[in-house]
Amino acid sequence: MRRIIKKFNLKKFNTFGIEVIADYFFAFTDIIDLKSFLKNDLYNHLDKQVLGGGSNILLTKDFKGVIIHPFCKDIVKKKTTSNSYLIKADAGVNWDSFVEKCVENNWYGLENLSGIPGKVGAAPIQNIGAYGVELKDFIEKIETINLETHELEIFYHDQCNFGYRDSIFKQSLKGKHVITAVYFSLLKEPNLVTSYKAVEEELNKIGPATAQNLRKAILNIRESKLPKPIDFPNAGSFFKNPIISLSEFKKIKSKNPEIPHYIESDKKVKIPAAWLIEQCGFKGYKNGKVAVHDKQALVIINTGGAKAKDILNLADKICSKVKKTFGIQLEKEINLI
Ligand code: EPU
Repeated sequence: MRRIIKKFNLKKFNTFGIEVIADYFFAFTDIIDLKSFLKNDLYNHLDKQVLGGGSNILLTKDFKGVIIHPFCKDIVKKKTTSNSYLIKADAGVNWDSFVEKCVENNWYGLENLSGIPGKVGAAPIQNIGAYGVELKDFIEKIETINLETHELEIFYHDQCNFGYRDSIFKQSLKGKHVITAVYFSLLKEPNLVTSYKAVEEELNKIGPATAQNLRKAILNIRESKLPKPIDFPNAGSFFKNPIISLSEFKKIKSKNPEIPHYIESDKKVKIPAAWLIEQCGFKGYKNGKVAVHDKQALVIINTGGAKAKDILNLADKICSKVKKTFGIQLEKEINLI
């Protein structure tokens, strides 16, 4: 691909398939390339936005500035310890290809995160998680280029402020760094997480409990519930699962005894947003060019030619109804640009 492109249509670079134009698009192949671009007088005064796979964003308007896209794709084993491997993956590696490679090489831990769209560089920003596994538990450190100083910086695990779908890169450092590589500490021995009933059941159907079979099970489950962006443009979960107080939970449960929930601590309970949305009658709901997926109510789909405002209107409608019905304020999981 050409590396610096003017007036670039981002339709293929966001899984919602929204058409917006960026003034400039730049794909970097390594750190040196990125640094020299950032120092270039033609571009260094422009607003900058990093865009990997575009699988967790909603593009709301044309972008007056430069979109920076990681195009570096190496995966290297850096170190072996008594029970782990330190693996460096470049930001531009496709996330699921990385998980596939890990499973093939017997680098264990990430199996449950199979099939998540996006690139390696974006994964730690929202601390991706699925089926009882969270990425943060496998991150050793993150390499970035600081957009202000143009210097390389390293963030060790404890400096990343990881939380549920959250990290320092979504908070105080939002927009300030380009993640160029992620270092993972992966296990030498399998430690398969099959605590989710659906996972255990699917794995039993496939065969012995191996990392390969667990990956297959996860891919099957995802395929049965989550729409493929290529068929139904979407950005995965649109909202976070809300975390509410125990007293609020008890009130809701008294009227809805069947409410699914996960105890977070002795004072906090997480509720699946998909359940709240479904209870409000939105599962499969269509509204012009957008719809709520009919198999997973947390996913909003662009059914053809939608603009960000169509998606946001539906999201607002859902939020108001959930708030009115349950008193719970949903929060967006995706990023707006
Ligand atoms: N449910 C409904 N209606 C639905 C779907 C689900 O009532 O349409 C209820 C069911 O009770 C179900 C529960 O919600 O047991 C949980 O559903 P699911 O296992 O599908 O997971 P989720 O909480 O809706 C989260 C992540 C997903 C991740 C899955 C699997 C968030 C915001 N989402 O969804 O992540 O794949 O768990 O672990 O935490 C993403 O972030 O894009 C994403 C897809």
